[in-house]
Amino acid sequence: MCELIDRLCADHKNITIVLDFINDEIDKFGFTVAPSTELLSDSLRYLVEYADNVHHPQEEIVFYQVSIHASQLGDIVGTLTAEHDQIYQDGSELFDWINGVENRQRDITAQQLRFGRDYVFLQTRHMQLEESTVFPIARELFSAQEWESIQSSYLMQSDPLFGDHVEPEYQTLRSQLDEFMPNNPSSAS
Ligand SMILES: [Fe+2]
Repeated sequence: MCELIDRLCADHKNITIVLDFINDEIDKFGFTVAPSTELLSDSLRYLVEYADNVHHPQEEIVFYQVSIHASQLGDIVGTLTAEHDQIYQDGSELFDWINGVENRQRDITAQQLRFGRDYVFLQTRHMQLEESTVFPIARELFSAQEWESIQSSYLMQSDPLFGDHVEPEYQTLRSQLDEFMPNNPSSAS
């Protein structure tokens, strides 16, 4: 019945792995081990293409239904929805910066690195807020009929990076993440 919430939580684990990877790569700027701007670009493209365009719209259907059941969560739902917009804008901006670096048009600045870390922090805190507020309410209060209507209101789209079929444009990143994951506490579950 709560399949959607289970999948959103599984997405969060995967998104966390990508965010941890981005943080690790950001930490390499300015040091002897060069970051991979190509993999950073792929990571940000995944976050914009999948997290922003597939995962977040599904969450917003849940948010709407939660706000009907629990009007006291209206402010939190408003904050989470506004953060989806912010995350999309920041992610798109970072993606453009990284591609600028990748194309050797410019070097990344300290301010941009801070912006990147803030982006990772915002997404991490955002997912924690969803999992501690709206998701438990949805699990507890939604009826079977509501789940059915929610699940019929969106198109199932598979994850191009962590799904059963890894899309060709994400295969290099996926191989890199498979190596990164055993060392990553986020992947332990
Ligand atoms: Fe989420």
